Amino acid sequence: MTAFARNQWYVAAYSHEVGRDLLGRTILGEPLVFYRTEEDGTPVVLHDRCVHRRYPLSEAPTRLDGDKIVCGYHGFTYDTTGTCVYVPGQKRVPRTARVASYPVVEQDSLIWVWIGDPDLADAQTIPRAKHLDSPGWTTVRGMEPIDADYGLLVDNLLDLSHETYLHGGYIGTPEVAETPITTEVDEGAGIVRVSRHMDDAECPPFYAKSTGIEGRIMRWQDIEYHAPCLYLLHSRVAPVGVLPEADGSDPGGFHTEITYCITPSGDGKVYDFWAVSRDWAIDDEEVTEFLAGNNRTVVMQDVTALNLLQKTLGTERHGYQELSINIDTGGLAARRILARLVEEGAKPMEKVQ
Ligand code: FES
Ligand SMILES: [Fe+2]
Repeated sequence: MTAFARNQWYVAAYSHEVGRDLLGRTILGEPLVFYRTEEDGTPVVLHDRCVHRRYPLSEAPTRLDGDKIVCGYHGFTYDTTGTCVYVPGQKRVPRTARVASYPVVEQDSLIWVWIGDPDLADAQTIPRAKHLDSPGWTTVRGMEPIDADYGLLVDNLLDLSHETYLHGGYIGTPEVAETPITTEVDEGAGIVRVSRHMDDAECPPFYAKSTGIEGRIMRWQDIEYHAPCLYLLHSRVAPVGVLPEADGSDPGGFHTEITYCITPSGDGKVYDFWAVSRDWAIDDEEVTEFLAGNNRTVVMQDVTALNLLQKTLGTERHGYQELSINIDTGGLAARRILARLVEEGAKPMEKVQ
């Protein structure tokens, strides 16, 4: 089981999921409740257990009263900082009546929450995914909970050779598995880059149907994994022979940004946030619908495989030895970085008095 890395930012939700209805999500084993203030729409994140008898505050009949949250069991009422401001049947509110509130940042249409020591939260360290929320881009997105260790999802995303086998007929073609990768690791920044450049490849239906390209393609996949949570896949396809200019511009090509947010929920559970953004055919509804449906199918193929893998790993009676090959270089680097982040996040923090 992959341990959790605390003192990190994690994507808890998409912006559109958080509103005036209470939303419950569990991140790194911590139950959280999300809502937006009436006053200015700021997202609020509180511990999702009432201090009185542990009723989940995300569950009905708990409700919002203005910007305060009223527990649906006996009415303890909390403000946006988690301080209890009302208890039933007495005037005095006990001093310890409060629930934890969490640092939260809304950026690039994502709701990021800090899990760990709130004093260490620095919004500047959150990696960006501007394409999710920039003019000139159209994004389709979704989220699937998977009953698998988040480490299995990291492995899955850092090794795209599986596209050929698991996603054949969608995004996989023989060239993906056949083409060697290059891997770069920035240990200090916690970033793993894995690239696979195919200069003459079959065009998978995912791109043939959406771009209209006929015939063989140049297909570049450049992964940038910002451990622990944000995974970006810069994808470029173009008809064979159309190569990008030295300045990075791409006269005949199609750029697609594929984003995943890998958010551990509990032991053996992970939220798989996925999005496909494009800066071409941005107003074409048919393309949007096709990419949304096709990518969801691809994601569900991974979900099914990882659910199965988790069960399989759990049933082996004796320890087993993994066998890694070249394609696993990126995944192994990611594991190393995650192990370091886990260790750093577990250290007791020195408090300056
Ligand atoms: S459990 Fe919330 S008020 Fe009693
Ligand atoms: Fe996959």
